[in-house]
Amino acid sequence: MSNASQRAEVPDHVRADQVFEYDYFEDPRCGAHGEDVQRGIHSLHEDAPDIFYSPLNGGYWVVTRLDHQSKILPDTEHFSNKELDIPPSNSGNVMIPLNLDPPEHLPFRMVLMRNFDQKTIRAMEPQLRKWANKLIDKVIDEGSCEFAEQVGAAYPVSIFMELMGFPLERFEEFRSIVHEFFSGVDIPRRIEIQNTIIGIVSEYFDMRRREPRDDLMSKLVQEEVHGRKLTDDELNSIGFLLFLAGLDTVANTLTFTYNHLAQHPQIQKRLAEDPASIADFVEEALRRFSIVQQPRICIKDYEFEGVQFRAGDMVACPLALAGMDERKNENPEKFDIDRENRSHLAFSVGAHTCVGNYLARMEMRIFTEEWIKRIPSFQRVQSKPPKWRTGGVMALSDVHIEWPARS
Ligand code: HEM
Repeated sequence: MSNASQRAEVPDHVRADQVFEYDYFEDPRCGAHGEDVQRGIHSLHEDAPDIFYSPLNGGYWVVTRLDHQSKILPDTEHFSNKELDIPPSNSGNVMIPLNLDPPEHLPFRMVLMRNFDQKTIRAMEPQLRKWANKLIDKVIDEGSCEFAEQVGAAYPVSIFMELMGFPLERFEEFRSIVHEFFSGVDIPRRIEIQNTIIGIVSEYFDMRRREPRDDLMSKLVQEEVHGRKLTDDELNSIGFLLFLAGLDTVANTLTFTYNHLAQHPQIQKRLAEDPASIADFVEEALRRFSIVQQPRICIKDYEFEGVQFRAGDMVACPLALAGMDERKNENPEKFDIDRENRSHLAFSVGAHTCVGNYLARMEMRIFTEEWIKRIPSFQRVQSKPPKWRTGGVMALSDVHIEWPARS
């Protein structure tokens, strides 16, 4: 693997009882229950202090409880989004609006909010159903598929490419770029991939500026901040972020979810008999299978819950731990569609709460409505276990499922 596991000296402001080893990229706990990474990481709640310092991955704090993450993630006075790599990459690249702090952040976030609001996203429902059915058409007669790539990734990536206005012929290329970016490659390689993505988005922004179409890229070139158009650098940076945010997150959440669903016929039956419960199913899936480990960098010395954060310290909030926090969700390992007072932070919280959360939720709901209608009963068939990875975004691959083929 990369230089990710580099061990740092424990700094003086960290007490000995606050030190606990957790590897952001390949912690052995994550694999303790097969591919159920979220169940694996849940053991930190029992074994580790609520907030601890891991000397691995360059040294960083890990915040394990939902209540603490809910205070740290929105706290832009003490914690910044300027550095979101663990270990820090100091790449100097800025993803807009994700890497910006208030007050600079809001006008750029509004550019996206105007294009990802509920009304705009709701209008996409027919396209979402079309894509779900197109992909189901491709596999249904076979009676089996590898879910992660053939369906889990193909669905959100197709929707995203159509939304942005990228040509679908480039699907494989786009998917493999994102896949590599999140797979724990070393920093020089990440910077190369970053430049490839920026090259692609800038090419399309240029084309849409010359010949606008009815797509998001054409709308973004017309957008304004502070009464002026976005510069090329700003557009490329927004495009780069959307590329990463839109192509990997829904894919991975769907794959973790369907890996679970394939092993639980009683949940399949419930969804088929009671499609109205699919919205709750999606919310429970987001809680039980949260995938992002959200970093921050401390920018002002700060004492919080007995921990002394120092400016320059990296901090990670594994959002799966918020959903798995038994102080907030009783019996958190159980997948319970009817759970009362469900709490999770799958989309983070505060100024940077995921702009795509409404789209992501709708993609998952519509996909499940269509899938369960057409393939109400399916199961997992593995010759070897699925593969998983952690890091900034947790992922699952090689999930093989089958169902009775149509004659
Ligand atoms: C299940 C799917 C998804 C998950 C779990 C997810 C998760 C997240 C998280 C945790 C953040 C956090 C930020 C922070 O606190 O710094 C974020 C930000 C963001 N996400 Fe998502 N996301 C998903 C889907 C999407 C989609 C489909 C899009 C758009 C195509 C999107 C666009 C964004 C953008 C633009 C931001 C930056 C917001 C800002 O900085 O103001 N996301 N997402």
